[in-house]
Amino acid sequence: MSRAIAIIGGTGPQGMGLALRWARAGETVILGSRDAARAQQAAQKIRERIVSAQVQVSGLENSAALAATDLLVLTVPFEGAAALLKQLKPAFRPGSVLIDATVPLAASVGGRASRTLGVWQGSAVQQTAELVPKGVSVVAAFQDVSAEVLDSEDDVDGDVIVCSDDPRATQIAIELVAKIPRIRAIDGGKLENARIVEQITALLIGLNIRHGGHAGLRITRLPESAYRSDWSAK
Ligand SMILES: NC(=O)c1ccc[n+]([C@@H]2O[C@H](COP(=O)([O-])OP(=O)(O)OC[C@H]3O[C@@H](n4cnc5c(N)ncnc54)[C@H](OP(=O)(O)O)[C@@H]3O)[C@@H](O)[C@H]2O)c1
Repeated sequence: MSRAIAIIGGTGPQGMGLALRWARAGETVILGSRDAARAQQAAQKIRERIVSAQVQVSGLENSAALAATDLLVLTVPFEGAAALLKQLKPAFRPGSVLIDATVPLAASVGGRASRTLGVWQGSAVQQTAELVPKGVSVVAAFQDVSAEVLDSEDDVDGDVIVCSDDPRATQIAIELVAKIPRIRAIDGGKLENARIVEQITALLIGLNIRHGGHAGLRITRLPESAYRSDWSAK
């Protein structure tokens, strides 16, 4: 895959962590922000952390980032997602794929990070699917991977459950997951299954609070063909 990946809300820990991993894997990444200067500063920070001369990370205001490519990632807090998506709606390219990592944590409204909010559509990502223009495919991924782990120098030993109603979007997201060392992607079926992944993420946060650490998810004993990782064989 050679096209650019635009990360909407890419200046936060989750967006920066994903950008770092994909830039290291040789992908072209555009960090999006409500403020172009903040996006450029964040891009500079990523470039400083990567030794390769080939590193391609830039920063743009969110709508410009969105308009620049058809491969999108959403990493904004749940409380800001709906208003932002409505504002950005005219900027989407037809046929875009949007990978949504949003988790509707109760912390968004002053509650606990180990609880989720009820979302009318069933999950944060289903809300996203309702708000993007027709023809944009939404896929859930990366809710269960901690930003701290992405930001570290270690390999990421977790499984990412990818959920979408569009098999093409699932495939594209799986390919991007597999670019990150040791993470495995698993096709998790329909978009509505993301509701369960969002709940599990709240559980993982609760485990982190209880035990310390950065818990991830590992699904065992599926056939080898269910796991996709470009790195496992290396
Ligand atoms: N952090 C994790 O470990 C983790 C793990 C899995 C999933 N997630 C999910 O990934 C998403 C991002 O997490 P994060 O920790 O990176 O979040 P964050 O730091 O709170 O926010 C990410 C970026 O979103 C933008 N933003 C903040 N409030 C906004 C609003 N009201 N409207 C529009 N944009 C806003 C900000 O960028 P600008 O100010 O530059 O626009 C900010 O840098 C969340 O939905 C979270 O549930 C996080």
